[in-house]
Amino acid sequence: MTGSGHSIEQARKTAEALVYSSGFGNEHSSEAVAGALPHGRNSPQRAPLGLYAEQLSGSAFTEPRAHNHRSWLYRVRPSAAHPPFTRTDNGGLRSAPFTETVPDPNRLRWNPLPTPAPGTDFLSGLWTLGGNGDATQRTGMAIHLYHANSPMSSGVSSEGAEPSTRGRVFSDSDGELLIVPEHGGLLIRTEFGLLRAEPGEVALIPRGIRFRVDLLDGTARGYVCENYGAPFQLPDLGPIGANGLANARDFRAPVAAFEDVEGPVEVVNKFCGNLWSATYDHSPLDVVAWHGNHVPYVYDLHRFNVIGSLSYDHPDPSIFTVLTSPSDTPGLAGVDFVVFAPRWLVGEDTFRPPYFHRNVMSEYMGLIEGAYDAKAEGFVPGGGSLHNMMSAHGPDRETFDRASAAELKPQKIDDGLAFMFETRWPVTATEQAATAGHLQSDYDGVWQGLQRHFRP
Ligand code: FE2
Repeated sequence: MTGSGHSIEQARKTAEALVYSSGFGNEHSSEAVAGALPHGRNSPQRAPLGLYAEQLSGSAFTEPRAHNHRSWLYRVRPSAAHPPFTRTDNGGLRSAPFTETVPDPNRLRWNPLPTPAPGTDFLSGLWTLGGNGDATQRTGMAIHLYHANSPMSSGVSSEGAEPSTRGRVFSDSDGELLIVPEHGGLLIRTEFGLLRAEPGEVALIPRGIRFRVDLLDGTARGYVCENYGAPFQLPDLGPIGANGLANARDFRAPVAAFEDVEGPVEVVNKFCGNLWSATYDHSPLDVVAWHGNHVPYVYDLHRFNVIGSLSYDHPDPSIFTVLTSPSDTPGLAGVDFVVFAPRWLVGEDTFRPPYFHRNVMSEYMGLIEGAYDAKAEGFVPGGGSLHNMMSAHGPDRETFDRASAAELKPQKIDDGLAFMFETRWPVTATEQAATAGHLQSDYDGVWQGLQRHFRP
């Protein structure tokens, strides 16, 4: 099957019927067949319905309870029943440590990824822009983009087969994947069940969980933050109080759904920077019931509760943090996921767009829809900018001139949805990103022509 009308129609029908379990970080449980989930213990002598019990750990067994992630899976076959993996082509994927180029202090900006060749699925459509840290040390992050025109359920489906029950499956041992669709919806079939992620929503696939991405439109494009470090969590709220920013109840985990499929299924595993492949004789998405807190989820960024100033200035953009991956230093994130969502600006005697700044953290920004209030043009949906540690940036000239002269009435910013992956270490670009045809050569021009206004 390709991204044909038939498979898209079927995927969309499936996506529109999905139900979810709500909440972030809590213990979820679900069974696709009544009686499949054992009660009172995790590993009974004989698991119900002839299933195999298996634990999937997302944290060390001994980590403090607040950081402990694990789920119990009850599946048709144990994950251990698989043939050897062999190396396969990494395609456009690269991993930390990033050493292909030297870290660049320049401000960089890219246009959207070019159109991929026909038959490009989510996995083969991944293209690494850069990152930091070391995947083998579980520190740092990578920034990927994707552009796909084919579902991962294509490839090995036999004549007449249900298209969403064959094909290939991916898992990432190196980190969790925060998927940020910008164009085209995704139907993500995971070991835990199905998720739908449309532009404006994000999906999180925890480390090690197998999944397959099908398309809800003819093509799909977006961004991925691969977080090698501590799993994303909701930021502490401090004086904000008990509610606000991304509310836990708005995160949606899947309910159990399984494939009971015999036949060749390619399973691709990203391990310490490389892709490895094995052809199973069954689908590994065969989990009939599960419980735990190491689960995939989706979140609608439009649900984000935006908090800002009611008097003057505007808070630092950390106030827009959706999810944070903490490091060993309190308050210092390995990576933050930040969203610039529709909001009111009411500050008096205030320069309202983002201020000029130099930041010890490094910022990669992308645009999901509309326009961003610090850049009048050149920063387009599907594109992105990289402002590394201490690089000077801020509004472009046109934005500065307009905002400096604007009448300060209450103003609704409602024509855009931008986001930022903000990380503690500089981002080193991959060779392919540093030499890409879609890297803009004139980005510095954005800040040229800012007039001298000083009158001593
Ligand atoms: Fe910035």
